[in-house]
Amino acid sequence: MNKVKIAGTGSYVPDNIVTNDDLSRLVDTNDEWIKSRTGIITRRISQGEDTSQIATKAALKAMEKAKVLPGDIDFIIVATATPDNFIPSTACMIQNNIEAINATCFDVSAACSGFIYAMDIATQFIKTGRANKVLIIGAETLSKILDWKDRSTCILFGDGAAAAVLKSGDEDGIISTYTGSDGRLGDALTCRAVSVNNPYVDKEAEKFNPVVKMDGKEIFRFAVKIMQKTINKLLHDSGCSIDEIDCIIPHQANFRIIEAAAKRLNISTDKFYIDLDKYGNTSAASIGIAFDEAYRKGIFKHGDTVILVGFGGGLTYGGSLIKI
Ligand code: UT7
Repeated sequence: MNKVKIAGTGSYVPDNIVTNDDLSRLVDTNDEWIKSRTGIITRRISQGEDTSQIATKAALKAMEKAKVLPGDIDFIIVATATPDNFIPSTACMIQNNIEAINATCFDVSAACSGFIYAMDIATQFIKTGRANKVLIIGAETLSKILDWKDRSTCILFGDGAAAAVLKSGDEDGIISTYTGSDGRLGDALTCRAVSVNNPYVDKEAEKFNPVVKMDGKEIFRFAVKIMQKTINKLLHDSGCSIDEIDCIIPHQANFRIIEAAAKRLNISTDKFYIDLDKYGNTSAASIGIAFDEAYRKGIFKHGDTVILVGFGGGLTYGGSLIKI
């Protein structure tokens, strides 16, 4: 089996910063509630750039870091719940933008766990020798599927994109990965697509109105339990103890979820890299943005052991234990 390393990362968020006070002018909310219940202070909201555009910017940064040419990329895997189109895939649009003419391109739908799922798929392709260099991207313009009149959801999310180039190397970077799904809890976080509508359907078609609907408490409970389970599984599979972990990059949904998971794991929240105060929940992009930001800040050094862990709609979950 080939060894897999992360050769470079990149991220991009739209310039437009929206504060909690800004949102209090749209819905009945306030800075104090949002800050104390979630930890979020600002988020970036697109003023027109779509998912493929912000994803392309993140991808170009990751490729530059990894010193990889577009023609050398074997696969582009994009995790997103907010594609530009049903067809073509966001991955194919990015392929066209960056001229990665030799790549096979497809999207993955795993909501906020998407970056981990994409990383897992890329790892399998490289390990088996099917690919040498894979570009993975988590990108969302969640703002286009939010109900901006629903204060229980519109305050949580932000737009952004993150990318990483994975390639075969002499050192193993991805030590263990664990993923799972629980479709029984699918109703806890939904965004309806088009209903069946054709000349053979009797009843009138539902109006196409794709907006996020969420049972926040259900997701909260699931998230805390699954973060603990995923981290323990990764530690068990890799033979590491929690003390050997230098940093945990969690899905950036809510500071209180991270706090509760840390308590169950008997560790300090200081072990977690947190940037949700600045970007809110960017869904499939959140882990990648935090990972890239921590890299750029010099928080990791060669040989550090890092855990990425996420959860999201589906419901889905997953994590990776990585050696930098
Ligand atoms: O990537 C996965 C995506 N989803 C998540 O991660 C969501 C996970 N869940 C959460 O983060 C939390 O459940 C929320 C932040 C969504 C909600 O926090 P909570 O502590 O569970 O609040 P709650 O839903 O129990 O609401 C408490 C009160 C309610 O008022 P009453 O019934 O007590 O009078 C809500 O109507 O807060 C009210 N409320 C708000 N007030 C001001 C709900 N949203 C807001 C708001 N501003 N934005």
